[in-house]
Amino acid sequence: MVDATSLVATLRTDGGWTPSLTDTPFARLGGADAVRALVETFYDAMSSDEPALAKLHRCDENGRVDTVTRERFGLFLMGWLGGPQDYIAKYGHPRLRMRHSHVPIDLAMRDAWLRCMTKALDQCPLEQAVRHYLDFRFQEVADFLRNQP
Ligand code: HEM
Repeated sequence: MVDATSLVATLRTDGGWTPSLTDTPFARLGGADAVRALVETFYDAMSSDEPALAKLHRCDENGRVDTVTRERFGLFLMGWLGGPQDYIAKYGHPRLRMRHSHVPIDLAMRDAWLRCMTKALDQCPLEQAVRHYLDFRFQEVADFLRNQP
């Protein structure tokens, strides 16, 4: 079974590119600042385009997904993409299914989440094979988190 929390450990050939410990999606994206920018675009897209999904998150007074959520997801994403493992150091194992068990995730929510991530990734200058790889991995983990029919 694929461990959805460990991207780099799972070496597969999806779309012609496979990450390694030295050639990571984190590096291909451009490091920590680029991942932070990706996370901002992702939650901005969620706040503007997917109100039902945004409302499941902590939001600020303007109804936008708040900075705490952005910071936690950003730290997680850096580790998941093969970068620094600060999320685990700070918050422990991500246990993504457990941490989402109180959130009803059906096909519509999964697809709304993926639309936001697609919009955010569209802003990143990525080689096509790397992009294909990331699309595949995000689809996989989003479906792994589905807990409603
Ligand atoms: C598929 C649809 C998804 C929904 C509806 C969803 C929803 C949520 C919600 C409501 C939170 C709590 C944030 C808050 O309270 O403000 C959360 C946190 C989080 N989500 Fe998701 N999520 C989804 C997919 C994903 C995916 C695919 C990933 C990983 C790639 C992910 C990673 C995280 C992480 C790391 C956190 C922070 C956990 C923590 O430290 O507390 N989520 N998500």
